[in-house]
Amino acid sequence: RSDVFSLLLLLLLAAAAADAGTVKSFKEEKRNVGDQIWSLSLDASTSKSSDMAALHENLDVLHYSSDSVTIFVRKTRLSITKEFLEGRHLAYNVVEKDVALHLQSLQAAEDAVAISRAAESCKEGQCPRPYKQDYMTFEQMEWFLRDLESQYPDNVKLSTEGKSREGRNIYLVRVFQSSASAARSSGSVSSRGQPRPAVFIDGGIHAREWIAPATVLNMLMKQTENCAANTDCDYEYYFMPMMNPDGYEYTWTNDRFWRKNRSPPPLKNDCFGTDLNRNWNPQWGNIGSSSNTCKEIYRGTTPFSEPETTSAKNVMTRIANNPELDLLVYLSYHSFGQLVLYPWGYTSDLAPTKADLEKGGNVYNNALKGVHNVPYVVQQAAELYPASGASDDFAYSLPIKYVYTVELRNTRSFLLPRNEIALTFEENYAGYMALLKHATSQS
Ligand code: ARG
Ligand code: ZN
Repeated sequence: RSDVFSLLLLLLLAAAAADAGTVKSFKEEKRNVGDQIWSLSLDASTSKSSDMAALHENLDVLHYSSDSVTIFVRKTRLSITKEFLEGRHLAYNVVEKDVALHLQSLQAAEDAVAISRAAESCKEGQCPRPYKQDYMTFEQMEWFLRDLESQYPDNVKLSTEGKSREGRNIYLVRVFQSSASAARSSGSVSSRGQPRPAVFIDGGIHAREWIAPATVLNMLMKQTENCAANTDCDYEYYFMPMMNPDGYEYTWTNDRFWRKNRSPPPLKNDCFGTDLNRNWNPQWGNIGSSSNTCKEIYRGTTPFSEPETTSAKNVMTRIANNPELDLLVYLSYHSFGQLVLYPWGYTSDLAPTKADLEKGGNVYNNALKGVHNVPYVVQQAAELYPASGASDDFAYSLPIKYVYTVELRNTRSFLLPRNEIALTFEENYAGYMALLKHATSQS
């Protein structure tokens, strides 16, 4: 009889784990149907940087190495892309002839891993918190944020700083020391009159880079727990975990490789979406951005033409201009590439405080590396490729002293398996903590 019981229990646990570990994407059956992934082989002559720039401009490059380029080809662009490549005598082969099926098989493989992992830790009486185990839909993020605020009312304030083009909320989460513990410590630490250090962190500017909002949500959760326990809570922390909710939602419903927001095209039959990381001042419209609405790096009609960038800019400006705050650090999370990038991004000219930027980047990277020994590279953003109108150059011009665009795991794909969500968070939280300490010790 006890055998029957333990069998039943096991089945129950497995069912619970399967449930906790799986977030089903609705309308999954229609996402990326008929879209393809191609691989182009490059000979020495085509890997010249001028030719590479032309490829980047005209194709949606998912990944490149010295001898090949992997591109995403939307169903509606199969023949035009074929013509483009043939015109340049570039050979290609089809790696995935239906991205929808490809995504489904990846998901099935991850499900199998997640279910067995979750079942294992549940057996020890502890089921892992789902937010560390899975990517959330935008709706799940909203619930997560409201939950956090109601659970920690003394340390978390959730606000809506604007609406996306399609009307979704752009959330800001402020994390802070509770007024009770602030009053207790204000006697010993004579911080009165001194502006408090502040940090602004965003994620999800680019829709398909799912690990970015996942990491920022984990960071803000951990920072909240710290502040509630009254440890490591010397800053005012501002998180904007999802800057591009429309694009993100679209990656769940229609196209896993969507990058831009979902602004409707100025002309009928034109292409949707503005690249939210090409829409900022002071260098809007310069190199590495496009005026063609169909391009992945379309910059929009004017600087801050998009409600998403306008909301973020307004918040950052308000914090920077608040005399009670000293906005010292800006972090913008993207993927992939494992890079810690500092300004300038629009030019390979050196930023006036390049030495400080590089030092801070190394502090972040050294702490990060100490966690899982994963290599990230610290470099000037424009060394990757110059791109103007990005958020980092705006932040640096505000001015903010320590400004970084962090390209998270891995070095191959936007489709980071979900068992790496927690690992990516852990190493970057260490980097973030070290950088914040470094920033206040220098000022
Ligand atoms: N992958 C990022 C992008 O394309 C890099 C941005 C780095 N910053 C810059 N100003 N170039 O938006
Ligand atoms: Zn990005």
